[in-house]
Amino acid sequence: MTTQTPDTQSNKDRVFIFDTTLRDGEQSPGATMTLEEKLQVAEILDDMGVDIIEAGFPIASNGDFEAVVAVAKRAKRSVIAGLARAIPADIDRAGEAVRFAPRGRIHTFVSTSPIHLAHQMRKTQDEVIEIITKTVSQARNLIDDVEWSGMDATRTPLDFLARCVDTAIKAGATTINLPDTVGYAVPEEYAAMFRHIINTVPNADKAIFSTHCHNDLGLAVANSLAGVIGGARQIECTINGLGERAGNAALEEVVMALRTRADAMPYHTEIESTHLARASKIVSAASNFPVQYNKAIVGKNAFAHESGIHQDGMLKNAQTYEIMTPESVGIKETTLVMGKHSGRAAFKDKLRELGYELGDNAFQEAFVRFKDLADRKKHVYDADIVALVDDESGSADDRIKLVDMEVVSKTGGTHRCDMTLSIDGETVTASFDGTGSVDAIFNAIKQAVGKEPHLVLYAVDGVTGGTDAQASAHVRLEMGGRIASGNAAEPDTLVASARAYLNAYNRLLIDRGQAAQGAMAG
Ligand code: KIV
Ligand code: ZN
Repeated sequence: MTTQTPDTQSNKDRVFIFDTTLRDGEQSPGATMTLEEKLQVAEILDDMGVDIIEAGFPIASNGDFEAVVAVAKRAKRSVIAGLARAIPADIDRAGEAVRFAPRGRIHTFVSTSPIHLAHQMRKTQDEVIEIITKTVSQARNLIDDVEWSGMDATRTPLDFLARCVDTAIKAGATTINLPDTVGYAVPEEYAAMFRHIINTVPNADKAIFSTHCHNDLGLAVANSLAGVIGGARQIECTINGLGERAGNAALEEVVMALRTRADAMPYHTEIESTHLARASKIVSAASNFPVQYNKAIVGKNAFAHESGIHQDGMLKNAQTYEIMTPESVGIKETTLVMGKHSGRAAFKDKLRELGYELGDNAFQEAFVRFKDLADRKKHVYDADIVALVDDESGSADDRIKLVDMEVVSKTGGTHRCDMTLSIDGETVTASFDGTGSVDAIFNAIKQAVGKEPHLVLYAVDGVTGGTDAQASAHVRLEMGGRIASGNAAEPDTLVASARAYLNAYNRLLIDRGQAAQGAMAG
């Protein structure tokens, strides 16, 4: 088996990208992905050259285990990692899952900070050292590539952190991750921590050091880059910055910062950056987390120039206001593309151009929806096609499906929705009045299904401009402590809203084992 460490360390300016969208990212409340979605995300990560994909937390549930196995079986270039607490059963389970990968990694972690030791673990420092020796050795007996993380490292006294790191490397860890678990660090301090540990731990050269930063203070990317300046050569990050609470460092931002400012930070990654925009769309659709318009690199406005002065400068020379090109991150000009006369071959070509390779069934389904859209909408733009393919509401596996709905609204009067749903194959009808049309629709669905999820978020925006533009609706629901999000795009705003609501509802119904969830870390 080839391991990634420590021989590759000879290339001292290379920064390895460790993506944890499928583990830390998927832990965000409401970001649960289906197996199919996880495979789609893993595929684009592998294609874009992500060095390590953390595919899940195998002990958490059978679903998580199966997902790590499935990702491992399909991996082409990336190392596939599985997370494990410092518990023998976790490590065995992670080892069982990643052994299907051409190159697998066990990533085991234990808390090191005084506050975690006192209140969460109830262990002494000596006990933690013993745990590190045992668990890292156990992992190393299963696989050559072992990563050890000291959870809450940034709130751990440096002398104890150095002892933990030394112990982990002696026990066989090949990567040492020092996370800013609670997003508390500031860049200089984080860089200094790596410098200190790398300079004081005698065997530090036997491992690659890694950053893992949370964004509670909006510093995750800055801290990750500072960690590299301090000596780290692996960055743990997620697409769109998805992750616990305020999220993790955004992969697209660290990659483009290193690339665009190589003069100030002389390090490089092997990421093919033209895949970034598509990866962002895939993750946004799979997690049902919309990307904020002004998000760096992949936001809808990231390359839009509105003010007259900026537009004037751009027309004269793009570099006046652009520090990187939209093409370098895979953003193409929105073009007027297709209409109702476009055939299968043209549609397939367009999908390929937009970066989609669909299987036969998925292609057929997408083509039917495209034709339906082209019948209703004169101009079908690239953005419409992306929204149509990424819209996974109404999938064949859904337990609740929209059959029909009729909404009647009167100014100053009633708003009524008559709805027919198919629930587990049975036809159910409901009628409900609401304070507005959307309220009536959501109430009718609740009446038909017989349960009352709490609506956490409802938002609608236009996929393109114009009154005939598709509406993209987003809904987030909470029920019994679980949160799920749903998206749908449709020319009719009310139908999009109903389908987004049902998409979120169907996700709430996806059976997901809860074992070990409580112990999961950010
Ligand atoms: O934030 C964190 O500390 C983590 C660890 C499990 C690496 O996610
Ligand atoms: Zn984390």
